[in-house]
Amino acid sequence: MKCVDDFRLKFGKHELVPIMIGGMGVDISTAKLALEIARLGGVGHLSDAMLPTVTDRLYKTKFVKEKTKQYKFNVENSDKSVVQFDLGHIAEATRVHVSRAMEAKRGPGMIFVNCMEKLTMNAPRETLRVRLHEALSAGIEGITLSAGLHLGSFGLMEDHPRFRDAKLGIIVSSLRALQLFLRKNAKLNRLPDFIVVEGPLAGGHLGFGMDWANYDLMEIFKEIHAHLQAEKLDIPLIPAGGIFTGSDGTAFMEAGAAAIQVATRFTATHECGLPEKVVQEYFKASEADVEVNTISPTGYPMRMLRNSPAIGSGIRPNCEAYGYLLDATGNCAYINAYNEQVALHPNAKKLVVMDKTCLCTHMRNFDCWTCGQYTYRLKDTTNRRADGTYQTLTAEHVFKDYQFSKDNKIALPPVEK
Ligand SMILES: Cc1cc2nc3c(=O)[nH]c(=O)nc-3n(C[C@H](O)[C@H](O)[C@H](O)COP(=O)(O)O)c2cc1C
Repeated sequence: MKCVDDFRLKFGKHELVPIMIGGMGVDISTAKLALEIARLGGVGHLSDAMLPTVTDRLYKTKFVKEKTKQYKFNVENSDKSVVQFDLGHIAEATRVHVSRAMEAKRGPGMIFVNCMEKLTMNAPRETLRVRLHEALSAGIEGITLSAGLHLGSFGLMEDHPRFRDAKLGIIVSSLRALQLFLRKNAKLNRLPDFIVVEGPLAGGHLGFGMDWANYDLMEIFKEIHAHLQAEKLDIPLIPAGGIFTGSDGTAFMEAGAAAIQVATRFTATHECGLPEKVVQEYFKASEADVEVNTISPTGYPMRMLRNSPAIGSGIRPNCEAYGYLLDATGNCAYINAYNEQVALHPNAKKLVVMDKTCLCTHMRNFDCWTCGQYTYRLKDTTNRRADGTYQTLTAEHVFKDYQFSKDNKIALPPVEK
């Protein structure tokens, strides 16, 4: 019987343990987690979501304070189109976050950054270009383009000196999305170095509609695998979403995967960015507590725990401080949902907004508990303490469990003293 460690992910001559930890914004997949995964020989991800606020928290920069001060005059205004990001600040935040991680990196693995297209930031092209360029300049080893179609993203990087040396990949949830991406980028003469196929059981935003339950990762994976073979495209294919045990991973490796991408099990580790209190919520969750809803202003369904404080929260839109989801015209679906409730309940002290959520604020504050479908199985991966709480794991423990376990077994951690 094989295990994941019987396989290797190959990027040219570079061989890695074929386990990639998916990007988890906002700073849930921390630099600490990515560094640990690189030390263990896999691929770790930073996330570039909301980096100005992340570096404020980690490295005492003052980006949010400055932006809030600059746009204070607009706080009461429901038109947020005036609120723009300072491209210099985005560049600096990206540089700080990525270069610090890369300088600290040890070991045979790699560190990539997850870059979501739907963070449109009131100037989609300009802000995305800066994010991609600065990550490359700061020495990131690879970029995973996610959450959106990214039809123009390779083009935005084409003039960067590292465009052909960094490992650039894309996340898709269907063959159609992949074909579209490949067609749009054919003229650049540069194929992706890897393709993540994300199925409907993943955490975060889903590349499916509310009929997500009708889709199956293995089926989509096999369809895309067959297509690449037929087209003689030798691009590493990496399935993601609901791969919970080493044996689940091995089944994909035997079906032709180059590696697996996993995330949910790492939300229960010390190295992830979730506060301990929230990690306990993940451990406690039952299957009925995990839901897919449409409260994300991006328009994509999103999976989260149904007791997330973000659900129903009617806070005032916070775009002067954040504003990462403002589209090219300076609008966000939460602003509309909020304004509707204000109009209906003009004298209410506290508003309830069910339709959408202020995702920037709630992700920033770890109040939107996004998670994979199998979060309810996390409790089976650890020991329960006498007081009813669960023992948080080390990333090394979870990584090695994926790497070596067989027969659908999950290794429990040593009991705490
Ligand atoms: C808490 C959490 C946050 C996530 N955030 C992002 C994100 O910011 N960008 C992204 O592309 N994928 C995100 N994902 C998806 C993961 O990167 C990954 O592909 C997927 O969750 C793998 O499935 P698994 O969680 O069942 O192992 C997130 C997943 C989780 C659990």
